[in-house]
Amino acid sequence: MRFKSPTFNLHIFTKHKHMDLSTLAQTLTLHRTESPAVANADDSLCSETTETSPPEPSLKKESSFFGSPDEYLNREARIEKSWSYWKNLGEPKLIVAPMVDNSELPFRILCRNHGAEAAYTPMLHSRIFSENAKYRSEEFTTCKEDRPLFVQFCANNPETLLEAVRRVEAYCDYIDINLGCPQRIARRGNYGAFLMDNLPLIKSLVEKLAYNLHIPVSCKIRIFPDLQDTLNYAKMLEDAGCSLLAVHGRTRDEKDGKKIRANWAAIRAVKNELKIPVLANGNIRHMDDVKNCLEQTGADGVLSAESLLENPALFAGFKTVDQGDLVVEYLKLCEKYPVPWRMIRSHVYKMLVEWFRVHPQVREDLNKQSKLTFEFLYDMVDRLRVLGVTRPLCEGTVSEEKDGGQASLCRELGTGVET
Ligand SMILES: Cc1cc2nc3c(=O)[nH]c(=O)nc-3n(C[C@H](O)[C@H](O)[C@H](O)COP(=O)(O)O)c2cc1C
Repeated sequence: MRFKSPTFNLHIFTKHKHMDLSTLAQTLTLHRTESPAVANADDSLCSETTETSPPEPSLKKESSFFGSPDEYLNREARIEKSWSYWKNLGEPKLIVAPMVDNSELPFRILCRNHGAEAAYTPMLHSRIFSENAKYRSEEFTTCKEDRPLFVQFCANNPETLLEAVRRVEAYCDYIDINLGCPQRIARRGNYGAFLMDNLPLIKSLVEKLAYNLHIPVSCKIRIFPDLQDTLNYAKMLEDAGCSLLAVHGRTRDEKDGKKIRANWAAIRAVKNELKIPVLANGNIRHMDDVKNCLEQTGADGVLSAESLLENPALFAGFKTVDQGDLVVEYLKLCEKYPVPWRMIRSHVYKMLVEWFRVHPQVREDLNKQSKLTFEFLYDMVDRLRVLGVTRPLCEGTVSEEKDGGQASLCRELGTGVET
């Protein structure tokens, strides 16, 4: 449903620490007075909402995951606690990576419905999250099925970071610090991978969370060009109180994940060096990659990003679903858990990339829609089906003779077949 009135509602689904689990999904309604003519149509939410109050910051401040100031756990006990926590979560191995505008609640649930065992939120900006209620309600939504959940923040100030994460720690399993974003915006904002130039600052961010939160802190890093630098860095994070480390096996300058293979050997070296759980990220395009990556790195799980966008059922081995079914399932989730239209648009393009290649005129019709509706999108999937695009997603490594060209299709997509 679209909003025609200058006042429109924002919607958040979240868990409230004082409520029974069955009643945890709740909504937050805010009112905005600016003219819709000024706002980008794709920035509005995709459904109307009902009223409740916003989540409160956690009130318990005296003790932390690692004990109270009088008796913090020693190093060995911290590592043991990090592991027992991970084991209690079921040691998830197949994990949706953090993606700005792309690992939002409906997409996370879609992936969970198809094999993902845990998920990261998109990166949240800690200062803006603390200051801006609209940003909070649009960018962080969750529900009781959305666990285990990593909520990721970028930051360069320990106090600001702590203030932001206090608002969400009751609704997730890890607070993750983004130490890997290589984009210009991160350089300008001095966060993400650009903090690799200031390791004492990184240490202070990790320590601040590790000794003040009730849940563990995790970090997602990129590697340094030099292996020993990477190992020293990872060790420093573990010593500072990081309970789980996700390693993206590319350096800060290796931005193009489609062209540059991730360095699994470096991830293996980090895994061997550390005692906490380590996750591997990079080059996970299908289940064969998952198996090879776990074997070659010894990591405790894998994160996938770009390939999941095209195939959210990647972790299920994509045997029984096709893109149209996935899009319909995703749209239904968006009706249930509203998100800005720009996110929906982005996912529809990515999930239907191959169908659009066969029928570019349908894509052009979508391009023309300055305002989307669910009706339009459901009709578009039906139209594609009538046009005869019903090929299922490819599965693992297949021979081209056997699959009638499906393997080359997968290669084009960057999924399904080793290149
Ligand atoms: C659309 C998009 C958004 C991303 N946003 C984030 C983010 O918010 N935080 C983060 O740590 N990494 C982010 N990444 C990087 C991924 O989490 C991942 O590290 C990277 O894409 C490598 O994994 P892949 O080879 O499976 O794509 C993003 C990647 C993509 C494609």
